[in-house]
Amino acid sequence: MFIFAQMKQRILVTGGTGYIGSHTVVELQNAGYEVVIIDNLANSNADVVDNIEKVTGIRPIFEKLDCLDFQGLDNLFSKYTGIKAIIHFAASKAVGESVEKPLLYYRNNLVSLINLLELMPKHGVEGIVFSSSCTVYGQPDELPVTENAPTKKAESPYGNTKQINEEIVRDVVTSGAPINAILLRYFNPIGAHPSALLGELPNGVPQNLIPFLTQTAIGIREKLSVFGNDYNTPDGSCIRDYINVVDLAKAHVIAINRILEKKQKEQVEVFNIGTGRGLSVLELIHAFEESTGVKLNYQIVGRRAGDIEQVWANPDYANNELGWKAETSIEDTLRSAWNWQVKLRERGIQ
Ligand code: WQD
Repeated sequence: MFIFAQMKQRILVTGGTGYIGSHTVVELQNAGYEVVIIDNLANSNADVVDNIEKVTGIRPIFEKLDCLDFQGLDNLFSKYTGIKAIIHFAASKAVGESVEKPLLYYRNNLVSLINLLELMPKHGVEGIVFSSSCTVYGQPDELPVTENAPTKKAESPYGNTKQINEEIVRDVVTSGAPINAILLRYFNPIGAHPSALLGELPNGVPQNLIPFLTQTAIGIREKLSVFGNDYNTPDGSCIRDYINVVDLAKAHVIAINRILEKKQKEQVEVFNIGTGRGLSVLELIHAFEESTGVKLNYQIVGRRAGDIEQVWANPDYANNELGWKAETSIEDTLRSAWNWQVKLRERGIQ
């Protein structure tokens, strides 16, 4: 009896050793895809590839490569033939740094995407899932925010690169390029893989709330500063839509399936990937203490420049159209972040 071995479809994940990228590689492998990772390791380590293998039992292909290297990318597609689609995470992503180094952000975040889009038709790559952000909405006029909300002038070069990237994708598709695209606008990704083998590992002092919070809880940082409690919110602190990173990763697999199974209703689709639940900084701190039993040392300080007061998603479109929904509770998510921090300490990494 001839058994037709289902050929695994090959997906390129740029930035695949990063926080969201590594969790997405795991979910792609779990879904039966073969994964090729490229990463320039500017903000991650190659040992993430070992940890992905420990989680799934399958070692992804990994090449150290910068998406700014056009010839290197061209050679990669020629070497690993049959790449059907790309998930593009590789980008610089520190809001504050982008204000100090705008040209680094414009060059890295825009030219990387341009290189990929230019090479896709030549190598028969059908689609791209792009890592966008709720920062494109700025401070929405209405909450929860839907995909139809207007984009607002970005508060930082980082946020601006996300807006410009979305426009670049649209313009390339409008020009007639044989490319299908899904833009996923993330809210605030947090947490770690339940195995505690993958998680967020920022270089230096964390800019984002959760890594700073767990580093404070374990004693690396003396105190967490809450940037302002004089906002027009119930407890005065900023509100965000915190989404579990594994739930977020699963949304990418669904988006890839949608492109490859030709289920898109338009060549470029946009989805808010959030929980639909807004939580304030102070609520998050209390939820952390409740769910882990760990007391947190924090102080209220002045506002951080550029912070949006409150934003959370209306995820109905992603729920109904993609059939995707955030499932993990905030308590389990915060516990996963804490377990990851504890494991980093046990491994002598932090
Ligand atoms: C969340 C809330 C802070 C640190 C940014 C980008 C977004 C994405 C995630 C990259 C805010 C408060 C934070 C601290 C605090 N980028 N805070 N003390 O700014 O919502 O989103 O990071 O992946 O695109 O815009 O996330 O985690 O920095 O802040 O009080 O030490 O926590 O003021 O209200 P943000 P964040």
